[in-house]
Amino acid sequence: MARNIYGLDLGTYEIKVYDKKQDSTWKEKNVIAIVDGKEILAVGDEAYAMFERTPGNVEVVFPMKEGVISRFTDMQYLLQNLLKKERRFTRGSEYLIAVPTDVTEVEKRAFFDLVVHSTAKAKEVSIVERGVAQCIGMGIDVRKTKGMLIVDFGAATTELSVVGSGGMVLNKMLKIGGMTFDVAVQNMVRRNYDFLIGRQTAEALRKRFGVLGGNGKASMVVAGRNLVVGVPRYQEIPSSAVRAAMKESLETCTSQIGQLIERTPPEVARSIRKNGICLTGGVSRLPGLDRYIEAVTGYPVHVAAKPDLCAVEGLRRMINSKELKKLSYSMLDENYRWIR
Ligand SMILES: Nc1ncnc2c1ncn2[C@@H]1O[C@H](COP(=O)(O)OP(=O)(O)OP(=O)(O)O)[C@@H](O)[C@H]1O
Ligand SMILES: [Mg+2]
Repeated sequence: MARNIYGLDLGTYEIKVYDKKQDSTWKEKNVIAIVDGKEILAVGDEAYAMFERTPGNVEVVFPMKEGVISRFTDMQYLLQNLLKKERRFTRGSEYLIAVPTDVTEVEKRAFFDLVVHSTAKAKEVSIVERGVAQCIGMGIDVRKTKGMLIVDFGAATTELSVVGSGGMVLNKMLKIGGMTFDVAVQNMVRRNYDFLIGRQTAEALRKRFGVLGGNGKASMVVAGRNLVVGVPRYQEIPSSAVRAAMKESLETCTSQIGQLIERTPPEVARSIRKNGICLTGGVSRLPGLDRYIEAVTGYPVHVAAKPDLCAVEGLRRMINSKELKKLSYSMLDENYRWIR
């Protein structure tokens, strides 16, 4: 018997973990702070608090980039040390990892290696497509539904998944996410107001104004640096400018949703029309995003209850159900042998 079972959803912005023994879920920022290029100063939420506020010799790093692991050793260190004493992974445990679909086998394999080669010596590691886990996370029996379209708006990626009859039908990963919007807002503020704001200020602006709603005349005063006089100042930013900055990326997302539906087999597409489009991922909390997608695509749109935790909730349900567990597969199966 394994010592414990964990469900892992590794996001570019936040790591989400389900611990079976404690029957609890928690999340922490996927960030590490490094001094002089070698020494680790802080990890997780603590490191994130230093983001854009550190002296020159401290680097705040996101070990994942666009949904995949880009700095393997940092990611491994982070996962092992992120876990405060009471949460540390028990040796010889079992892991179920939600993985993106539209990435290379090597990139998928990295999620597996990360856990297998950690100091916590995994007993068994299995994976499931994140879209499938999210469908289960929403309380829908993915084996019985003909078709569901799940759009996971994450921090660095937007993953579109058509799932049905117990598996993935179509999948597409876009390199657009919350951080793309943050950069777009930052650039807009610099261009229009000669004013420099941090990434977190940009995030606060878009979270406040979202995509639709309000009377369109709202504004927010933010702190930053005036580039003309070169000193810290305050600047009023209107909601219309924030929304305009996000427009292009949003249009790419909706046009990709449309294209994916066009490629979907007719019977599955009929089921999607009936069930609507489900939004998951932290960015689906953006005010008005659901109504915007509804208006552009003409499909009904629902937002998952806890959108950022939807995948890990699916993992929780799979770990606790023998039947649902069958939807995951081991990376030690025949199919995966060739790559080792
Ligand atoms: N209330 C909110 N309104 C808008 N955006 C939000 C809100 N809450 C969180 N977010 C955004 O959600 C994103 C994080 O979501 P999530 O945890 O799903 O991403 P992730 O899984 O880490 O990233 P990815 O799936 O791209 O690898 C961040 O960009 C954050 O700004
Ligand atoms: Mg995610």
